[in-house]
Amino acid sequence: MKLLFRALLLVPLALANMQAFAADYTIKFSHVVAPKTPKGQAAELFAKLVDERTKGRVKVEVFPNSQLYNDKKVLEAMRLSSSKTTGIMAAPSLSKFVKFSKTLQTFDLPYLFNDLNDVHKLVDSPLMDQLATGLDKKGLRALTVWDNGMKVFSIKADKPLRNTPADFNGMKFRIQSSNIAASMIKNLGGTPQKLPFKEVYTSLGQGVVDGQENAWSNIYSKKFHEVQDFISVSNHSYLGYLVVVSDEFWSNLPADIRNQVASALKDATDANRQYAAAADKSDRKKIENDRYAKVVDLTDAERAAWRKATAPVWAEFRDEIGGKLIDDVKNLLAH
Ligand code: SIN
Repeated sequence: MKLLFRALLLVPLALANMQAFAADYTIKFSHVVAPKTPKGQAAELFAKLVDERTKGRVKVEVFPNSQLYNDKKVLEAMRLSSSKTTGIMAAPSLSKFVKFSKTLQTFDLPYLFNDLNDVHKLVDSPLMDQLATGLDKKGLRALTVWDNGMKVFSIKADKPLRNTPADFNGMKFRIQSSNIAASMIKNLGGTPQKLPFKEVYTSLGQGVVDGQENAWSNIYSKKFHEVQDFISVSNHSYLGYLVVVSDEFWSNLPADIRNQVASALKDATDANRQYAAAADKSDRKKIENDRYAKVVDLTDAERAAWRKATAPVWAEFRDEIGGKLIDDVKNLLAH
């Protein structure tokens, strides 16, 4: 009783302290994946670093697993937001910017990247500004790119995806809202279906779609492999994220605070690359150990056939993205 009484006495003091230390700015960081993924981990680290570097003046609240918004809704909310003290931040996959940027579609081109080193070469080059150009006019401030990994294909079927188009015929694949991914699936011989990330597990389980393409950490953390029979290690395209914030909020932050937040983001980005490299190996291993879906490496000949089958996608989107930009990117990667 005495302790409770003392505790009650402390409440007004605690409230006063909370007020004294209330943050001046709040960033609501919304994402759709699990906390233990390269994006989830980087978001948590970012929140911690911002708290330290701004000495509590900026509070980052992280909302994983589509708890606050899905990727479509978060971009709308960000664009509509006019608050100067509460900013919405998110890291939707690059494929989900199709409504706002034609040039960012470059990242979806099949077999553009051999691996994450290729991706970093592009992201760290001056071409990245060209790829993300114009987003500020749509109310979005692009800040950095975070990795997940190269995508592989999973399928519920009596055999793995090896031969195109034979193994894709009659199969429906969930894709993100990317027109390039849709064209790629058609060129491989399958039928694409755009669905939000939150619906993938149920859609696979209920047979709404037969398969999907994703990075290892998303497959493992969302248990997609538990409702699939095979995973073909195709590494056919990149799953990465553009970290964006409401332009209005960002532009209005005092310069010192903005620099502190930017430096936290820089360090979170460096850490994200390490998280992604680690997850790529460890989550593949965990999926193999779980033995729900059999993991199948493609032969060089199969990989070459997939590359050839998807080549028309490049021609189809060349004008929309910009031929010169595509050539510059190809020259930079030079393979
Ligand atoms: C994500 O990694 O943020 C989601 C990717 C997807 O929609 O497949």
